[in-house]
Amino acid sequence: MLQIPELLAPAGDLERLRYAINYGADAVYCSLPEFGMRSAPANFTPEQLTEGVIYAHARGRKVYLTMNTLPTNEEADRLPEAIKAAAAAGVDAFHIDVMDGHFVPAISFGTGMVRTMERLTTKPLDVHLMVEKPLDFLPELEELGVKRVSVHYEIPGGPEAALRAICAAGMQAGLVLNPETPVESALPYLAQISQLLLMTVYPGRGGQVYLPGSNEKIAAAKSLLQGQGSNTVIQVDGGITPGTLPGAYAAGARSIVAGSAVFYGNIYQNVCALRSEKAKP
Ligand code: DX5
Ligand code: ZN
Repeated sequence: MLQIPELLAPAGDLERLRYAINYGADAVYCSLPEFGMRSAPANFTPEQLTEGVIYAHARGRKVYLTMNTLPTNEEADRLPEAIKAAAAAGVDAFHIDVMDGHFVPAISFGTGMVRTMERLTTKPLDVHLMVEKPLDFLPELEELGVKRVSVHYEIPGGPEAALRAICAAGMQAGLVLNPETPVESALPYLAQISQLLLMTVYPGRGGQVYLPGSNEKIAAAKSLLQGQGSNTVIQVDGGITPGTLPGAYAAGARSIVAGSAVFYGNIYQNVCALRSEKAKP
């Protein structure tokens, strides 16, 4: 007999959640709009989710909150055009966020998207691995000719093995520090890395607000690198807009990742706006 350990049902709204539970679902999964789930199950408001959780828990069932930044079909269709527009506007490289659903709650592009991007552009690919086991991804990234791979300081066991493997594969290595990780954590790895990526939002999703204190952290990283005679480039990632970019640049960031500020609206104009902000004092 087939054993189903847990019967999961998508709960797009409260009525469907109640229905799923009353008809025997062991757990339901729901999403909140701000976590980027743009396809079924439909989004709950925080109030509805709270009500749904109370309802499910009162009946001994679980609720999983799903967070997902995978592109919708429509977005995937628009990808080639968007990549072309961004390249024409003069972006230097494409930054690809890979999320595994463990290191961060969301699941996003895997190596399949890196393969697609490799076909769509000749610009360098800069892969940001928000994953617990970066070593599993490296052979394919190497095969795809990825220029640079960044791994998090905070992964279980630390980043040493992954950084060594990235360098051994002939790719450039980047080390990523979460907002709460002090810049001094990068010290033991400076010889291996060409890029120090400072998260200026909490990793896991786009569209967040640039965290206060980020510019001070960039400046601290800059003086740490200078003190060590290191020419490692500081990259910033998260919440970059024409408003936040000048501060990051002035503090010492020289590689700028922008998602929402590029891809929402007119891509060409957005890139030009970001580039002109960089030049301002
Ligand atoms: C956060 C990612 C960022 C982010 C950038 O987990 O690493 O690359 O998506 O997106 P915006 O520019 O929208 O903050
Ligand atoms: Zn990123």
